[in-house]
Amino acid sequence: MKFFIDTANLAQIKEANDLGVLDGVTTNPSLMAKEGIKGEANIIKHYETICELVDGPISAEVLSTDFASIIEEGKKLAAIHPNIIVKVPMIKDGIKALKWFTDNGIKTNCTLVFSAGQAILAAKAGATYVSPFIGRIDDTSWDGVELIAQIAQIYSLQGFKTEILAASIRNALHIVRCAEAGADVCTCPLDSILGLLKHPLTDIGLAKFLEDAKKM
Ligand code: E4P
Repeated sequence: MKFFIDTANLAQIKEANDLGVLDGVTTNPSLMAKEGIKGEANIIKHYETICELVDGPISAEVLSTDFASIIEEGKKLAAIHPNIIVKVPMIKDGIKALKWFTDNGIKTNCTLVFSAGQAILAAKAGATYVSPFIGRIDDTSWDGVELIAQIAQIYSLQGFKTEILAASIRNALHIVRCAEAGADVCTCPLDSILGLLKHPLTDIGLAKFLEDAKKM
């Protein structure tokens, strides 16, 4: 399973990349706004900087919602760098745009996916990635990871090539469960990635080894 970091914060992207286990980055309009990135020129510059930091797929989300504008915006985003993945919302014009991008060799990430039916449509349109939002499903008292398992089963049975990108990850356990459920990629906040490191027995064991090492 690949690890993407889910942020537009350059320091966090660098910290995750320095770990050596990072495969890519996802952003969305909320994450860009959180970093104070405003205006087309600054948005493009920020994506360029992320592409310089990480050598892997970088999802950049379109802000348009009608077919013609999604295509125009997606082409501009894709032109920034060969690693840019055009992120398109799961709406009717989004599906049409995904198919257009597929037919024109532009890689895509279908976002805001909350059901297996939506995931089937994204795969039919040839999306490179489909992004089910695990945490937001959990917030409604359903089990988001169950959706990952369901999509993984359908894609495997049907031979769909779209990769399952588990999004809206809230903790380290989400990452472990998504790996078990068959996600191809998990996009995670830095805290969730670092959460995988934690175990008190590791800390206790290391303290003892270092203490005993003084007697060596
Ligand atoms: C990433 O592609 C998604 O936009 C992101 O994971 C959503 O996460 P959130 O539900 O924590 O906002």
